[in-house]
Amino acid sequence: MIVKFIILTSLSGFLLFVIINNNGLSFKKLNGLLEKVNIFLMNFEFGYLINTIPLLRDILGSRVRLTEKLFTNEELATFNGEIGSKGLYLAILGKVYDVKKGSKHYGPGGNYHYFAGRDGSKAFITGDFSGSGPADDVLSLQPEEMAGVNQWLSFYENEYTYKGKLIGRYYNSYGNPTEYQKQVIKTLQDIDGEKRRNEDLELKYPPCNSEWNRESGTRVWCSKMSGGIRRDWTGVPRMLYLPGSDSYRCACVKDPEDPSTRRSSREYPGCEPRSTSCRVFT
Ligand code: HEM
Repeated sequence: MIVKFIILTSLSGFLLFVIINNNGLSFKKLNGLLEKVNIFLMNFEFGYLINTIPLLRDILGSRVRLTEKLFTNEELATFNGEIGSKGLYLAILGKVYDVKKGSKHYGPGGNYHYFAGRDGSKAFITGDFSGSGPADDVLSLQPEEMAGVNQWLSFYENEYTYKGKLIGRYYNSYGNPTEYQKQVIKTLQDIDGEKRRNEDLELKYPPCNSEWNRESGTRVWCSKMSGGIRRDWTGVPRMLYLPGSDSYRCACVKDPEDPSTRRSSREYPGCEPRSTSCRVFT
């Protein structure tokens, strides 16, 4: 039966290709047409078979992922866990997961039933389950909030079964990332890069210990554990000015003569340059 289907669809795909070619349609138009055919077939739930049809695969080239199931919004909505539905799925950032084992959360009457049968990415942060506004638009969130949605994605990746991709905001009908998705990934990479740079900075310039008392005021000092960063050097306190900031923090500096350290830090006034402890006069 499947073989017959494949042969028939291959033939019709071939004919379609020949007809279109003879009529001189551009590759762009051909793509658009195939996109519609792809969605049409998917609505009949054998869309994934299109990926196994060599001819269509050749036409579409690398734009088709070979094994993944692609869902339309309408199809995903039929997996909302209600009586008579096809199952209990949700999507996050365009990826679809089977969450049946969490039906107490996502099933009818569950606290998180809102997420069933849809991509409610944004509500993972806003907690707005009223259904108003685009539920999957995360670019309207703050970058750190987007990172929060991404953590939820990791949660589903670890805890539930991946089922495929949702055609729409994040993936096109070939299962390839949309421009929107690329923007999301870029934002997440930027956040990640900044986080890593901050971590590197903390290792290079660990925070100082500090204390204050009424008689002697503030004192800052370095130790091999200051800032909670265990290391085999102590360092000397410096006022560290981070890029883009006009304020400073106290950092323990291993090599105060290092040119980049000299550019971004100042000695505490009245403190010996090599002293591991300085009084702060404000
Ligand atoms: C933005 C707001 C929130 C969102 C999007 C959210 C989302 C979720 C989701 C998706 C689950 C199910 C996780 C799974 O599949 O195992 C869950 C579970 C849970 N949530 Fe929330 N939650 C929110 C706020 C809260 C708050 C404010 C509380 C408590 C004060 C809370 C308490 C819980 C508890 C206790 C569970 C586990 C229930 C169980 O295992 O039986 N959540 N949450």
